[in-house]
Amino acid sequence: MAAQIISGNEVAKSIRAELKDEVSRMKAGGITPGLVVIIVGEDAASQVYVRKKGEACQELGINSETIRLPADTKEAELLALIDKYNADEKFDGILVQLPLPKHISEEKVLLRIDPGKDVDGFHPVNVGKMVIGAADCYLPCTPHGVQELLMRSGNDPKGKHVVVLGRSNIVGKPITNILLQKAPGADATVTICHSRTKDLKEFTLRADIIVAAMGVPNFLKGDMVKDGVVIMDVGVNRISDPTAKGGCRLVGDVDFESVKEKAKAITPVPGGVGPMTITMLMKNTVKAAKIHHDWKG
Ligand code: GUN
Repeated sequence: MAAQIISGNEVAKSIRAELKDEVSRMKAGGITPGLVVIIVGEDAASQVYVRKKGEACQELGINSETIRLPADTKEAELLALIDKYNADEKFDGILVQLPLPKHISEEKVLLRIDPGKDVDGFHPVNVGKMVIGAADCYLPCTPHGVQELLMRSGNDPKGKHVVVLGRSNIVGKPITNILLQKAPGADATVTICHSRTKDLKEFTLRADIIVAAMGVPNFLKGDMVKDGVVIMDVGVNRISDPTAKGGCRLVGDVDFESVKEKAKAITPVPGGVGPMTITMLMKNTVKAAKIHHDWKG
């Protein structure tokens, strides 16, 4: 049977419609959620992401501000700016776009953001809350998006064996914790594999669901998965292709053509997990505003 191609674009669209309704109800009640995005330097991919974040806020009626700082900004200046927004009640969420220039400590910066405004879910307080399953934590956007995609595409991870490929702080570790929770949308048995895992194929062949997030183009092949597997491809790799527009194209960590022959469901790249990340950022910003204003509507 042909694999279900899970459209992140469609799922993201319906979540954004729900959020837009919610924001308009909040606004009628005198509350406007606010997000400030801070970017340091000229990284081209980061510039695109930051622009998309601003556009998503505008679409949903969220108040947003983008602060663009030069690459030679001092760490102390950035920390002082974070302090300013921590104290500014107009903003419910603060996001500092990563990566930062080398002379600025990412750890220091992430620690400085008020955990109650950390809509990226990267502050150690939120990481800890995620691990214990606290209701008021902000889940990191990409893994949260993977969980939503599974649920909204009819692929509940409950009782399933999920194999996660990759152990990053942004995707691999958090998705492992999220799907492990004793909670709706989770309750999975989770195995995490990485670059030092021996006989990785033995794990992937036993997986009901695979979350591929290792950053290796087309890594997962059809002979590494079982029939009926569900695939979430988090990879975003630019590879050169003289036949493509601009001489390169985007591929995931999954060899889509060979894996789709065996999969029950699979996300494409682009248009799969990608569109979910900013949508979950919007969800976290709305959640922050609800908490800050004790909104029960
Ligand atoms: N850079 C790449 N992905 C992300 C993200 O999810 N949040 C932030 N702040 N920076 C990123």
